[in-house]
This record gives sequence, structure tokens and C-alpha cells, in this order.
Amino acid sequence: TKQHPLAIGLDGIAVAETDLSLVDGINGLLVYRGHWARDLAIHHTFEEVAHLLWFGHLPSEQELTDLKDKLKANRELPEHVKGILKLIPADVDMMSVLRTGVSALGSSSHGFPPTIDEVIALAAKMPTIVAYRFACLEGLEPLAPNPELDHTANYLYMLKGVKPNAAHVRALDAYLILTQEHGMNASTFSGRVVSSTESDLISSITAAIGTLKGPLHGGAPSEVTEMIEAIGTKENAEPWLRNKLESGGRLMGFGHRVYKTIDPRATALRVVASELSSNDPWFDLATHVEKVGLQLLEEYKPGRKLNTNVEFFAAAVMRAVGLDDNLFTPTFAVSRVVGWSAHILEQAGNNRIIRPQSNYIGTMPE
Ligand code: CMC
Repeated sequence: TKQHPLAIGLDGIAVAETDLSLVDGINGLLVYRGHWARDLAIHHTFEEVAHLLWFGHLPSEQELTDLKDKLKANRELPEHVKGILKLIPADVDMMSVLRTGVSALGSSSHGFPPTIDEVIALAAKMPTIVAYRFACLEGLEPLAPNPELDHTANYLYMLKGVKPNAAHVRALDAYLILTQEHGMNASTFSGRVVSSTESDLISSITAAIGTLKGPLHGGAPSEVTEMIEAIGTKENAEPWLRNKLESGGRLMGFGHRVYKTIDPRATALRVVASELSSNDPWFDLATHVEKVGLQLLEEYKPGRKLNTNVEFFAAAVMRAVGLDDNLFTPTFAVSRVVGWSAHILEQAGNNRIIRPQSNYIGTMPE
């Protein structure tokens, strides 16, 4: 039987042309539609960068107002979704709840291709799903979205119950911008696979959320804080990390399929996190763990070019703005939905079903 070239993990295989982002893993560069992601994170807002990814250009004042208005108008959840979010048992993890909440939104048309209005409506509701569920878990009355606040500020407001301070909004905005889009990562690919069958937007995003959840992808930041808490003291960093590597374990927040140098998002978020965390012993310990982790990876995995990835400092930023561990990966999803949907819209313009091959290595019937 014919055997096809094998690409385990699809490493090095390009499955699409895109003008959404360039992830240059050799030089550590990240570009969104002709702009440095780092500069967008410093000088722009969540809505402006979402506009860039969805519409192809940074918005004019009027376009920005229109996008903000549309997002605000779509934040509220349908009653049946709220009911479902309340019914799910408390021990079900937040990403499963988000996946179920998004799925429960259903698709009005079950249509293909999805419209930009459907995309905006979904991006507007995801923060509300997370915040609604979080309030239920905390035994608090969920807060209605606040139309005076922009996307990121409203998200923090719904989670914390008070208007957030400007430094926290700015820091979280930078994180959300830096994680909106990232080439053909696993969850984006999942969303594209589902959409390539001409299925609807909600089905595609539900699959992407399930993919992001895994600890090798978006599930890493809460494992970073768990690791740092388990380490506890600077003295314990070396023996703990060494023991982990000796037993064949992976250090969370290190390594990347594409980046063989420092992840540019980690560089930018390190600055954001350190500005918020001066004199914070946790951040001091995290910085020490990073240093020792890099030394030990060089010792145990020489030549593999393992560096700190975005998740290491994502954990630090989210912790610094006061988000609980169980909100880290859902917050990643709140931003990445922009990239997922931009890819789905882009692909829909030139669609072909994604259908790779497998090589049969079993026996043939007699
Ligand atoms: N700790 C220890 N060893 C590692 C690590 C790590 N974090 N990452 C890779 N390695 C080793 C791996 O064991 C392998 O060694 P060997 O050559 O002896 O078999 C070598 O480095 C190459 O690893 P790989 O598994 O072929 O690399 P990959 O491209 O398939 O995996 C990764 C990439 C991100 C899944 C992996 O680096 C990893 O598991 N990192 C820890 C989890 C993490 O931080 N994930 C967040 C990724 S960034 C955000 C995102 O993508 O969502």
C-alpha cells in the first residue's frame, strides 16, 4: 500500500497561507498584519488590535466606536446559557464550563461562512461566560456587564466587582493583545479543521477551546503558578526542578514548537509583570525559578534550544492583576477567540476541506 510522507505533530508542514500573523521562531519575532505585536501591545487596545485582525487595518475613530458599540451590545448572555452555567457542578473545571457555555449559545443560522457580526457577538460574550461562572463559584451575584467600560476593563470589573485601576487594565490589555493571534497553533488549527467542513462558527470555536485547554498548549500558566508554589523557596528551586527533569517531567512555561529563541511575548510580558510586581516575593521567586530552569534545561536537554515561553509570564501578569489560577486559561481563550475567528473568516474565503492521510501499518485480511 502507498505510504505518505510522515509528519508526526505536523512539524514543519504549512497548511495555509495567511496574512494574519508571522511567527518567526528563529529570530523571536511576532507580527500581526504588518505591525509588531509588541508595539501593538504598548500603544493600542484590545478593540483596536481585534479590528486589525478582523478587518485588516487599525480602526479610524468612527470604526473603533462602531466596534466598541457592537461588542457592548452583545455582552449579555441568553437566560438559558446562564441557567446551564449555574447547573454545571462546581468541580467541573472552568475551561470545560467555557466550552459548554459557548456551545450552548448555539448557532442562529448554522451557517457557513460565518459573518463578522456573529464573530463580534461571540467575542463579546466569552468574558461574560467566564465572569458569570466565576461569580456562581464564589457564591456571589453575577454582575451585569458595564456599558461604560471597554472590553478588558469590563472583564476585570465583572470578575472583581469593582471598577479596576488603570494599571491593571493596561497590563491585562497588553497580555490579551499579545495572545490574540499566533499563526497555526494547535487550537487555531482545530478551529480551521471544523470550519473547513463548512460547519458553523460555534462548533469551530468549541473545538478550539477544547484544544487550548491542554497543558501542552494553553493549560500551562496555572501549572506555572502551581510549580512556583510547590517550589516555595529559592533554595528549593534547584533540587525541585532537577528532580522533575530527572524523572522525565517537563518544566511548565519553557519550550516551544516554533520559538527556538526567547518567545517575544515572554519578553514583553516580563516587563509588564515586573512593573506590577516590584517587591513581590512571588515574582522574585518566579524570576529565580526561570534562571535555574534555563540552566538545568541546558544541562539535561542540551541543544534543544528551550527558552521561557509566553505562559511563564502570562501567569505572572494574571496573578499580578488579581486573577485566580482557574481564570488563567479561560482568559487566554477570551483573547485568542479573536485570532481563531480571524483565521476562520480568512479560510472561508478560499475553503477546501482539511483531510490529511494516515499510513496503515496493520496486517491485511487473509
Ligand atoms: N521541559 C523539559 N523538557 C522539554 C520541555 C520542557 N518544558 N519542552 C521540550 N522539552 C524537551 C523534550 O522532552 C524533548 O526532549 P528529547 O529530545 O530528549 O526527546 C525536546 O525538548 C523537544 O521537545 P518536543 O516535545 O519535541 O517539542 P514540541 O515542539 O513537540 O513541544 C511544547 C513544544 C511547548 C509542547 C513543549 O516545549 C512543552 O511541553 N512545554 C511545556 C508546556 C508549556 O509550557 N506549554 C506552553 C507552550 S507556549 C503557549 C502555547 O502554545 O499555547
